[in-house]
Amino acid sequence: MEPLGGVERVALKTAGGEIREFLAKVDTGSDGTSLDESVAKDLGLGPGAVTSKVKSSHGVSVRPVIHCTFTLAGVQINADVNITDRSKLKFPMLIGKDVLNRYGFIVDTNKELLLHVGRSELTAAVVSLGSESSLRTIDEMGKLFKHVDNIDMKKIELRLDPKKHEILYGGKPLGSYDCVYVKGSFRYAQVSETIARFIFSKCYTPIHPSSFEVVHDKLSTHLVLHENNIPMPATYFAASRSAARDLLKGVKYPIIMKFPKGTQGKGVLFADSYTSANTILDALDTLKQPFIVQEYIDTNGEDIRAIVLGNHVVAAMKRKAASDDIRSNIHMGGLGEKVTLDEKTSAICVKTAKVLMADICAVDLLMGPHGALVIEANISPGLQGITKATGINVAQEIAKFLYDKAVEFRKRSMSDDTQKLFEETGLGKSTITLTTEIGVRGNSILIPDAAIKKTGFVDGDMVELSVSDSELKLKRKNDNKTGGL
Ligand SMILES: Nc1ncnc2c1ncn2[C@@H]1O[C@H](COP(=O)(O)OP(=O)(O)O)[C@@H](O)[C@H]1O
Ligand SMILES: [Mg+2]
Repeated sequence: MEPLGGVERVALKTAGGEIREFLAKVDTGSDGTSLDESVAKDLGLGPGAVTSKVKSSHGVSVRPVIHCTFTLAGVQINADVNITDRSKLKFPMLIGKDVLNRYGFIVDTNKELLLHVGRSELTAAVVSLGSESSLRTIDEMGKLFKHVDNIDMKKIELRLDPKKHEILYGGKPLGSYDCVYVKGSFRYAQVSETIARFIFSKCYTPIHPSSFEVVHDKLSTHLVLHENNIPMPATYFAASRSAARDLLKGVKYPIIMKFPKGTQGKGVLFADSYTSANTILDALDTLKQPFIVQEYIDTNGEDIRAIVLGNHVVAAMKRKAASDDIRSNIHMGGLGEKVTLDEKTSAICVKTAKVLMADICAVDLLMGPHGALVIEANISPGLQGITKATGINVAQEIAKFLYDKAVEFRKRSMSDDTQKLFEETGLGKSTITLTTEIGVRGNSILIPDAAIKKTGFVDGDMVELSVSDSELKLKRKNDNKTGGL
């Protein structure tokens, strides 16, 4: 189970059976779980006949209790929740140790800080050609991000002026976002790359700028796969017609000949002998089309498509070619069926996505006699086929992944900014002022990491505490270094 963050989304059923979502604070320092009284009233819950004694920092109080059913991180929880006035607190609900322990949740304090970003603060954009898959992804992202802009790649304009370079969308500068997902076909590889290059260091973007040209070209993809020892069918490329003829004379048949930039099975040709390869070569020559030659892997017309998000394969399907075809692409009439990949195959898929520098990546495999062979990667995969075959809402998985990564990016840039602040101001001055939120857990105060780093305080240090109504100062004993809070 994924650890919980300091703030989590909770879905609660109202008396009328409706589902309402809101944010709850996760507090390992609190015994019980509580809900704000006006929210409870609003949801038509309680008031409960039962009461419970609750210990808090204000002493012991007696509160009404209601029995609630809610979901937390995908787990259905049944718990007695005490009702209290939380109107002055940031979150209407608090999840205490009772729920955390009973359901075996772990709380990650790192994640805690990161979620202070607030789920609904982050914004995103999807730059795409407006395919059905992109729209589904945007729709799912809209449930997590504050807003998601649907940006039409065809309306993008790039200005590389020595004084100012910018991306214009519909004539206006492109807004700033926490996450930008760029996806388009191979025809837009250069535009995609340029957009990604502009925004790469400013927000989270799942596809590395240099990945677009590589992934949209099968030969470049195979070069990278080969450099990284990823298993693939033997692949050949000839620089000229005469070299191609020599190449075709020397290879073992049958072979596959394919266009480096083809998609959806449309550029894949089959030759069972030198004679047929030679005829194809003549045709390709008139078309002035470069092509790659690949050993034919007999899989009975089956291939595997896996969707990798970061370090995981989230969905995989086996595709079977239509009975009269060797190409198993769904677009060519292939049928999909859910499969679970073994560890080794999953690891090959994850590594493929990693070396191609794509956090969101579809990997196509053929199951050869000695294991999986990668034939292609796709950074703008269609989602309908795999969603239908596996029953996994891949668009939703992508949205969740992008959201978590955007939060991580924001957290990292926040800590980088704090770090910069400390470097810039901290070195010269003995005291710096940091406006931040602190966490109070019973008798303990959680101080931001950066403040601990600056003071160098370690557990057991002797300090002098000076306290007034609105100020708390910690001073290391026998030291004039002051950590002002
Ligand atoms: N080397 C090969 N051996 C056997 N079948 C292949 C080979 N390469 C491609 N195919 C078949 O053709 C289909 C399309 O090939 P692929 O390289 O994925 O190109 P595309 O970009 O057109 O999808 C594959 O899904 C697979 O069924
Ligand atoms: Mg393919």
